[in-house]
Amino acid sequence: MFQAIRTLLEVEKRLSLHPRTRLCPLFASTTQQKRYFTSYKRPFLHSASQPAPAHTCCFPINSASSKFVTIASVNMSSAVEAKKTSKLEFQRLPLNAVPVHYDITIKPNFDNFTFEGVENIDLKINETSPNIVMNAVELNILKAVWKDSGTGKEQVAQTISVDETTEIFTAAFQPPLQSGTGTILLEFTGSMNDKMKGFYRSKFKGSDGQDKYNGVTQFEATDARRAFPCFDEPSHKATFNISLVVEKNKTALSNMPVKEIQAYPEDDKLHVVKYERSPIMSTYLVAYCIGDFEYVETTSSDGVLCRVYTPPGKKNQGKFALSVTAKVLPYYKEYFGIAYPLPKLDLIAIADFSAGAMENWGLITYRETCLLVDEEETSATSRQWIALVVGHEIAHQWFGNYVTMEWWTHLWLNEGYASFVEFLCVDFLFPEYDIWTQFVTDTFVRALELDSLKNSHPIEVPVGHPREVDEIFDDISYSKGASIIRMLHRYIGDADFRKGMNIYLTRHQYKNTFTEDLWRSLEEASGKPIGQVMGTWTKQMGFPLIRVQSEQNGDTRVMRLTQEKYWADPNLKNSKEHNDYSWMVPVAFCSASDPNTPICQTLMEEKMVTVELPGIRSDEWVKLNPGAVGFYRVRYPPELLVEFLPAIKNKILPPLDRIGLLDDLFAMVQSGESSTVLRTLDAFKNEDNFTVWSSISNVMSKLNLLFAYTDYHDQFKKFGIHLFSGIADSVGWEPKEGESHLDTMLRSLVLLRLTSFGHEKTIQESKRRLNLHRNGDQTIPADLRPVVYRGVISEGDEETLEMMLKMYRESDMLEEQDRIGRSLGLAKNLNVLKKVLEFAISEDVRSQDTVFIMISVGMNKVGRPLAWNFFKENKKFLGERYPSGGLIARLVKHLCENFVTEEDARSVTEFFAENPFAGTERTVQQVVESIRLNEQWLKRDERLVGEFLTNAI
Ligand code: BES
Ligand code: ZN
Repeated sequence: MFQAIRTLLEVEKRLSLHPRTRLCPLFASTTQQKRYFTSYKRPFLHSASQPAPAHTCCFPINSASSKFVTIASVNMSSAVEAKKTSKLEFQRLPLNAVPVHYDITIKPNFDNFTFEGVENIDLKINETSPNIVMNAVELNILKAVWKDSGTGKEQVAQTISVDETTEIFTAAFQPPLQSGTGTILLEFTGSMNDKMKGFYRSKFKGSDGQDKYNGVTQFEATDARRAFPCFDEPSHKATFNISLVVEKNKTALSNMPVKEIQAYPEDDKLHVVKYERSPIMSTYLVAYCIGDFEYVETTSSDGVLCRVYTPPGKKNQGKFALSVTAKVLPYYKEYFGIAYPLPKLDLIAIADFSAGAMENWGLITYRETCLLVDEEETSATSRQWIALVVGHEIAHQWFGNYVTMEWWTHLWLNEGYASFVEFLCVDFLFPEYDIWTQFVTDTFVRALELDSLKNSHPIEVPVGHPREVDEIFDDISYSKGASIIRMLHRYIGDADFRKGMNIYLTRHQYKNTFTEDLWRSLEEASGKPIGQVMGTWTKQMGFPLIRVQSEQNGDTRVMRLTQEKYWADPNLKNSKEHNDYSWMVPVAFCSASDPNTPICQTLMEEKMVTVELPGIRSDEWVKLNPGAVGFYRVRYPPELLVEFLPAIKNKILPPLDRIGLLDDLFAMVQSGESSTVLRTLDAFKNEDNFTVWSSISNVMSKLNLLFAYTDYHDQFKKFGIHLFSGIADSVGWEPKEGESHLDTMLRSLVLLRLTSFGHEKTIQESKRRLNLHRNGDQTIPADLRPVVYRGVISEGDEETLEMMLKMYRESDMLEEQDRIGRSLGLAKNLNVLKKVLEFAISEDVRSQDTVFIMISVGMNKVGRPLAWNFFKENKKFLGERYPSGGLIARLVKHLCENFVTEEDARSVTEFFAENPFAGTERTVQQVVESIRLNEQWLKRDERLVGEFLTNAI
């Protein structure tokens, strides 16, 4: 059968080649966005003679939408305006034929990087119809034959066509197919590409030093159709029998365990590996990996065979993830009340990998940097990140795989939920990480920041075309999704939350859901109006700013709260949409007498409420939003704000509340409600908590980016050095015997910040340590390497760069390469920076890593214009390398968002209007908005901050 295909095989043009990899906590989740409220109804049972209308839209599926508004942007150039409104043509697959079971055999050819496929799909024909319509892209479909199971008759398709734009494959039959059941046989060929999507190849160095390739898959969101023709929508669930025809000495894995291995008579170097039938599942979760791997294994206490596959020679680096996996499975079983349903779970490290990790059922794929832990080379930050990623992807095995969103509009159900649960499990496994506190400085704050833009979007966002789908893997789906689940969890309590989750997962097992299905289950469990409350958070973008006023009445504190939409742009408070927003906000308070115990938890259902808190002394402070649980900002009048300062200083206020106050205040500065945050930082002098310092560090690094454009940048850096020097002295350079995980992270955080302020002593020490390290005299601990590399390159010349590039090339640990790569952009020397950019797109750098090296240049004021020009000059190369989605959007965001002039805003707008990059449309709108906000902010505060700094130093 495969011989026959081979004769038809087109000679594939060799795809342009690329290089090597990693992701990091700093840019952990995908970051880009989207906006309009249009959606696509599914054309039901249309036939070829009556094709579905080209466009069926315009309200969100399953939503009572109209109450909520989405704000169109202002100030955009007309070209961009025009583009925004032109929707990409899209319609969902018709329902006349739906899949029940796939039997797929794939035979890859590692000589010419093509593959051949034979597929039998059992279909249910709901209505007599001449056409079978499914998805395919960049496949050469050679044959389609229908076999009716009732009559047993075979029928060859009259025509087969693939529309590469709509990614639709149509097989037309005459006479039309009768309703009932049958099987369509398809034969096809394709190529293993270098784009990290579909069935693609991933490069590694063989033991002989030669380049070799593994064949791996990445199908989410819409790329299974690049590997085999299929009904590539999450609601078209079916069972899968996968078979792989592979060389006998290669490891070949798929979602399920091997059922049998058969001989392959045509070539005795090959055999056919057949896997067990999968449960009913969506196409985006199918996976297979073929290549050179080794593994470590264990069986979890709940009886699941777990393995971590690594590149040859690195199996010890799989041990950490393996132990996390073996503990997480029984934890989730207990938490959800449902056991992991497959007999095995493999985790595999893939060198070339676009995302951080992918939750394919039973075969989770990871970037090497998100899975492998080397006892010497891995930093505490990476180890923590790996625990989170492993916890995240395993959470999807229930939330996503077992129960799946009906359509991508509900993507947040997968990603927001998994991004919440990963913290639950890491908190359980590693209480010493204090991970829930870190949730706030990482996930929560990131979501608030993005969601304060007018170009944000609601969590539930109608999407159609694959490019639009790619765009919503962003901080709204992930971080806002996780943050509102955390708020909900607190609102209904853990017991009801778990009960509701169990109802949801049991009721919808092996099926698809809408957001409302989750609310219904939680409502049943808790008796609370979850749908009504949560709809205000998922169907409208943004979040409230709660203004507080208070007054003492005997021993009662009377708190008056008013909510309005928070905008980063103060001008929007006057927009006509401003008043249309309102939320149902779970609120709580805490007070000086017992800061750790929330009092008076209630639901704010109106725009204005008065809450009476009995038993509060007149000299006590009262704080809203203890633990920073509610997804909102709080604005206190200055006289109330100062009352908190002693409690920050003496740390009576818990860390999360110190962070909450600081970050809310910073948001007030950003939106023009307050003039500076620097004065308040004085209260944090005695701070020793890692997470609070990381919040201070976030504030200071944002200001450092902005004030780089002022005359007083040097003064600002001095202020920063002064602020961080106390804690730097106390953490020192030397790791202390038996110190905690968080103290290790604190040291690198503090020293990194000092480096970014140009602190000469720290930079000199970095140079000294790198010399010792290079001479083999004293190895730098992994945690301190970012500090050292950045310090050294920041004052380095071309020779320094060459030395670092040599280290990059010589390292075979992708985490180390990533650390070096992300440091390079801190150079100040223009020639060095130019070379760094060239290096980023060279053969030495994997295409997934290019982006982070370029970003490091773009984060540097001197490098920013260089990086932006380089992006423009290489637009063709970059556009081809990243055809859509995550990486390119991230690049655009970080290269552009820190510009500060209207001229830059225009140049970015015009460039992307003329050179659109798929999947970055919303990101472009957001960065342009951010640039204008930066400009406004500088204009507003520049003078005052300058005066403050002059007096402070
Ligand atoms: N389902 C995603 C992987 C994915 C992302 C597929 C984007 C397609 C497009 C996976 O579960 C995920 O969320 N991965 C994260 C890591 C996670 C720990 C936040 C990622 O890749 O960034
Ligand atoms: Zn995920």
